[in-house]
Amino acid sequence: MVGGQARLLAFTSDEAQAALLRQALAGSGIPRAEVRPGNAEAALQEIGAGQRPDFLIVDIEAGETALFDISALATATEGRTVILALGQANDIAFYRNLRAAGAGEYLLKPASAEQILAALAERAGTREGQASRGEARTVAVIGARGGLGASGIAIGIAWILAEERGQKTALVDLDLQFGTIPLALDIAPGRGLREALEQPDRIDSLFIERASEKVGANLFVLGSEEPIEDRLTLSEAAVATLLGALREKCQWIVLDLPRGPGLQHARILAEASHVVVLAEPTLAGIRDAMRLQALVRESAPGAELLLLAAARPTTKSQNISMADFERSLGQPPFLTLPWDIDAETRAAAAGKPVPEAARESRLAQAMRRLVTRLAGAPKVASRRSLFGWLAGKS
Ligand SMILES: Nc1ncnc2c1ncn2[C@@H]1O[C@H](COP(=O)(O)OP(=O)(O)OP(=O)(O)O)[C@@H](O)[C@H]1O
Ligand SMILES: [Mg+2]
Repeated sequence: MVGGQARLLAFTSDEAQAALLRQALAGSGIPRAEVRPGNAEAALQEIGAGQRPDFLIVDIEAGETALFDISALATATEGRTVILALGQANDIAFYRNLRAAGAGEYLLKPASAEQILAALAERAGTREGQASRGEARTVAVIGARGGLGASGIAIGIAWILAEERGQKTALVDLDLQFGTIPLALDIAPGRGLREALEQPDRIDSLFIERASEKVGANLFVLGSEEPIEDRLTLSEAAVATLLGALREKCQWIVLDLPRGPGLQHARILAEASHVVVLAEPTLAGIRDAMRLQALVRESAPGAELLLLAAARPTTKSQNISMADFERSLGQPPFLTLPWDIDAETRAAAAGKPVPEAARESRLAQAMRRLVTRLAGAPKVASRRSLFGWLAGKS
């Protein structure tokens, strides 16, 4: 981090809350922490001017713009900043939407110094804990409609995590009959995945080496091409066992989740730390994105939901404006995926992921932005936990 940058910025125009914040920060030992007058707009201006605090506290008004503001801040800080929102709305749906939009925590006003300190310590602790335990994070990718590019996204982000970030990553295509991941990567579909899901007691510590195809040094791909007429019986417990085994070997698991029947979506989503939902601005696209949103919030309340807008061209009669799209979903998309036929063609011809075959394409860059949101920015200087600061070790 650049010297002189604030480690924590807090914005509120509420004098009483500002006093409580100053009290909390004085006791926190966080260097370069400031409380300033203003709201999310002022915070966005600071981020726009190059500030990248570790923590951002913003006083927000409940209502339509709150979710946009938090989402805009989360996007602008590329997931590197813990965002703490303060507000007066005591409403669980609002709380969940805020968390989905990117807030790390939400506290009711007036928030006491103790509550603020506890929330900061918890967020810092979770983050540091995850990093130090090396726990695998599980990203589920699902398209709200067919053919929007969900598998392409799953492949792209898994490859970036593995190759560009050097993280051991498992990429699992859970569509055992129609899945396209082995095909797209020009590798053999294995039999191991079906076996594992039908007989989970056979999953052992050598499972991943046996059942996966390796792409490069760090990417393990599990997919299959089971006969279309077979009736597969995949138990929900088997998927959990499989993920448990993968977590022992990998830092990241990327799941390509089909929409169709035969999968216990709720049970699988409950395993995810992040869910990427790809939606398109059509009537059916919005309907299904809303249903997926509700399912994710219900079955994986702790997971971060990232909404992407697919830019697949639609016919005029189907098209719904982005404003209506955002209004229906209650949040702006984290990003709009460029529709890039040139990059896709190069990837398909080479049998390689888009970020490898069309490294500089806008589509590859969008995938990197998504990875930054998931995994933080590359090559960040090591950060100390708030606990370290609290203990006066900074
Ligand atoms: N961003 C994009 N720009 C252009 N073409 C794309 C893009 N994303 C995907 N495609 C193309 O669209 C087709 C479907 O892509 P993909 O298989 O990734 O979608 P999907 O959402 O996983 O589909 P399914 O619902 O069948 O699983 C492929 O031919 C792919 O090359
Ligand atoms: Mg697919």
